[in-house]
Amino acid sequence: MLAGKRILLIIAGGIAAYKSLDLIRRLRERGAGVRCILTRSGAEFVTPLAVASLSEEKVYQELFSLTDESEMGHIRLSREADLVVVAPATADLLGKMAAGLADDLASTALLATDKPVLVAPTMNVMMWAHPAVQANVALLAARGVRRVGPGSGELACGEVGSGRMAEPLQIVAAIEDFFAEAAGSRPLTGRRAIVTSGPTREPIDPVRYIANRSSGKQGHAVAAALAAAGAETVLVSGPTAEPDPPGATVVSVETAREMLAACRTALPADILVCAAAVVDWRPAEVAAGKLKKDGSTPSLHLVENPDILATLARSAERPALVVGFAAETSDVVAYARAKLARKNCDWILANDVSPATGTFGGDHNTVHLVAADRVEDWPRMTKRQVADRLAARIAEHFRN
Ligand code: CTP
Repeated sequence: MLAGKRILLIIAGGIAAYKSLDLIRRLRERGAGVRCILTRSGAEFVTPLAVASLSEEKVYQELFSLTDESEMGHIRLSREADLVVVAPATADLLGKMAAGLADDLASTALLATDKPVLVAPTMNVMMWAHPAVQANVALLAARGVRRVGPGSGELACGEVGSGRMAEPLQIVAAIEDFFAEAAGSRPLTGRRAIVTSGPTREPIDPVRYIANRSSGKQGHAVAAALAAAGAETVLVSGPTAEPDPPGATVVSVETAREMLAACRTALPADILVCAAAVVDWRPAEVAAGKLKKDGSTPSLHLVENPDILATLARSAERPALVVGFAAETSDVVAYARAKLARKNCDWILANDVSPATGTFGGDHNTVHLVAADRVEDWPRMTKRQVADRLAARIAEHFRN
């Protein structure tokens, strides 16, 4: 979506400027061109060399630079972009934008641009709450300036509250949202989706559990893709190291039974994608205290967990489109067909998880989309691409 897009990134002076280096990298990874303006105070936090190396472009710093002005005037700089992003956007720069001041290259470019602007504010919690800042932000919003964040949490100044700059991936998502909206490409707008992801953990006692190696990468990517396509997405996930997918509401659970209950709470939905690796059996009894070594070897009595996919696919509130995953190590498509019927789903994305494929925990996946009437063999691609293709197929399904 960002391939070939041109972004003018203005880096102002906040401690979060270091995250802007990561933002440049993330945007470049997605094929966007990034040209940067670094303010004088921004250069106190990150070096022009780091910005230039990551963006692979000259960094613009001075309004009154003869060489810059002869090569590329500030007017052209501000217009030769598809989107202007200000990250971090400081209280000072937001104030200048609101007041229409232009005393340096960043503020001048912001005044001279005819392109949409997205700001990612960051500042101390009291500064953010100050009526002056809030009035500026409201004024900018009324003028159509888009905003991502700030989030709350621990701030660099040691205080806790609202004022943290949005994480680079959240800013990327906001940028993607902008381009998707611009292209009118949010085909799942108005649809509701539930996605399960990650492993479950089934407790044995207060310190031990049964789980599996699922990383949650595929399920989280599906939630991100559906949210990006405009679906109101609830991600019900077991414990993973994956960041929350931008745009999705995340419900964190541990056990299979909690996952099922959370899915039920999230109903009704149009779309259900079960990508979680649910632990099939749980200990029948959970010991109240930690099991101690007493010379004997304890045995676990296991009982079957509910099948979340099958339960919801057979319920009265069945979403219109139900998609399961099948992790197989042989006869992938044949087993997937059987699973499709057994679990009453519409599609199964079947993947080969034999150790040689590196699918578990890896970034790639080779899947087959198995429906009652067709099988599509997808080439090996990243889990993110699998998610995007699935979201595209889902959008086609609802269009027809
Ligand atoms: N699934 C589920 N709840 C379970 C078990 C599985 O929702 N208790 C879902 C998974 O999220 C996946 C699909 O069912 O979408 C297939 O899971 P898989 O582990 O491949 O199949 P199983 O049903 O466990 O069958 P088998 O182990 O015999 O292949």
